[in-house]
Amino acid sequence: MVVSSNGHFDWAKELKEFDETKAGVKGLVDAGVTKLPRLFEHPPETLQSRPKLDAVHLDLPTIDLQDLGARRSEVVEQTRKAAQEWGFFRIVNHGIPLETMDAMLAAVKRFHEQPTEEKMPWYSSDVRKQVKLNSNLPSRENDPASWRDILSCVFNDDQLHPEDLPLACRKEVQQYVKYMIELREIMAELLSEALGLPSDYLSNIECMKSEALACLYYPKCPEPDKTLGTPKHSDTTFLTLLMQDSTGGLQILHDDHWIDVPPVHGALIANIGDLMQIISNDKFISVEHRVLAQPVGPRISVACFFTPSMKAAAKPFAPIKELLSDENPAVYREFMFREYTQHYKTRFDKAETALLHYKIR
Ligand code: OGA
Ligand code: NI
Repeated sequence: MVVSSNGHFDWAKELKEFDETKAGVKGLVDAGVTKLPRLFEHPPETLQSRPKLDAVHLDLPTIDLQDLGARRSEVVEQTRKAAQEWGFFRIVNHGIPLETMDAMLAAVKRFHEQPTEEKMPWYSSDVRKQVKLNSNLPSRENDPASWRDILSCVFNDDQLHPEDLPLACRKEVQQYVKYMIELREIMAELLSEALGLPSDYLSNIECMKSEALACLYYPKCPEPDKTLGTPKHSDTTFLTLLMQDSTGGLQILHDDHWIDVPPVHGALIANIGDLMQIISNDKFISVEHRVLAQPVGPRISVACFFTPSMKAAAKPFAPIKELLSDENPAVYREFMFREYTQHYKTRFDKAETALLHYKIR
């Protein structure tokens, strides 16, 4: 790596060299690195309080969708409490077959473990590309890179041409996203009702009608205590549905403590994003989370981020009027979705969400 004789670290040069390999973090591991490249070193304060992965933990609430028809009011109440107090919850009996989930995890692994030459054509940081592979490199000078590779697949208005997907995971991505869309419809109803709104409210405003799948590959790391798989952030979305494999490493910031979110086979994790916090006028919370780098791996996860339809993205968003009153005035101003995406930044020393930007002081 690029450390000159006086020990000077050239961030831009190292970033460029890594990017130009088009081989991602997986490429570094394949090349047999035993020392963490300087580019991936995170400041010690961002690595603090790393509980052992087997540490005793407080656990997320679990929402069971079994017999939803008969248990609806109970499930709505559990959803309200979870979205309000945790911002994160597990979902079980969600209707997505185990085989579909396992096949998706296996397909993501298969994609990332192809020879570099096979993956290179997908490697890109062009924001306009609907399907691309990258390591989500930092754009802000001197920010560190993170120990993961990402294949992202963007479905605008639920649409992405199947032929635009890599063959290694095409069938599985198509299957998986179909189920994600079905579950989104259920969650949109439950979250609407949990806000005290008609059950079709969130669906009608089309705030979750597009989705981006982040198919994440976290290689095992030679010096996991010096870096992170995904740095602390909150999701910019309305809602995220996450599937993780059995490795572990996800943590959320709950009551100012990092707590582990241990894998539960077959369960999905839902989390409220910043946009949902905004339109719910802070009733639901978007909570910061991160993924530790680990000496074991790879860890595979698939995050499905729900964002507005093309039509809704062209209209302003603001706290939902029906939720406001003299006692509960709007805490955010109106804004355009496009303006919002430009403002969003993730920093490594301090998560800086768009929430603050739209807050009425
Ligand atoms: C994300 C994220 C968690 C994970 O991509 O926003 O939080 O487990 N991922 O990979
Ligand atoms: Ni996230």
